[in-house]
Amino acid sequence: MTRGRFITLEGMDGAGKTTHLEWLRARLLARGIALTVTREPGGTALGESLRGLLLDSHEPRQPETEALLMFAARSEHIARVIEPALASGQWVLCDRFTDATYAYQAGGSGMAWSRIAELERWVQGGLQPDLTLYFDLTPEVGRSRTRQAREPDRFEREQLGFYERVRAAYLRRAEEHPDRIRIIDASQSIAEVQVELEKIILSI
Ligand code: TMP
Repeated sequence: MTRGRFITLEGMDGAGKTTHLEWLRARLLARGIALTVTREPGGTALGESLRGLLLDSHEPRQPETEALLMFAARSEHIARVIEPALASGQWVLCDRFTDATYAYQAGGSGMAWSRIAELERWVQGGLQPDLTLYFDLTPEVGRSRTRQAREPDRFEREQLGFYERVRAAYLRRAEEHPDRIRIIDASQSIAEVQVELEKIILSI
């Protein structure tokens, strides 16, 4: 049995990740590839509960706490969903994975990069995505896609700073893993992005 491919999608809000995931799912299914489509945080009952806890609360918390919860969900997700699917020959399309922990908890929230690397080694062992599609967009363009084009207020400026750091961390990851992470310019039209995606999936 040939092991399946593990593909992850990353990017900020407004980058069109969800639209592109749906399109990729349809293209891969049309090629006759058996697929598991999943997401992080989430993908298992426990993971989805942790997702609710993480995303529904605006209570301030330590980035380390967030990272530990992300990796708790990830540990379960790998053991119960990702590894069994890959071992059975299915491809796994996962909406976000560990690059998001580097981007958000280290880049955005200032947690030590090396701590995340420790958790990554511990929880994932040798498991890494075969391919990561990173949909790159400046926070300003992301914001203008999701809101009207007025000047940002103080809260929004703080948010823009956070997303600048998230983006810088994603770009750092891409620089560190040039063979795995493909940077896709998400400021292009959906059709232009799809032309690029088509080329990438034909080459894997
Ligand atoms: P999304 O899946 O709808 O894009 O949202 C998931 C949110 O969770 C997004 O704000 C990024 C965040 N996140 C982290 O902060 N760290 C992680 O490790 C993961 C997987 C997601």
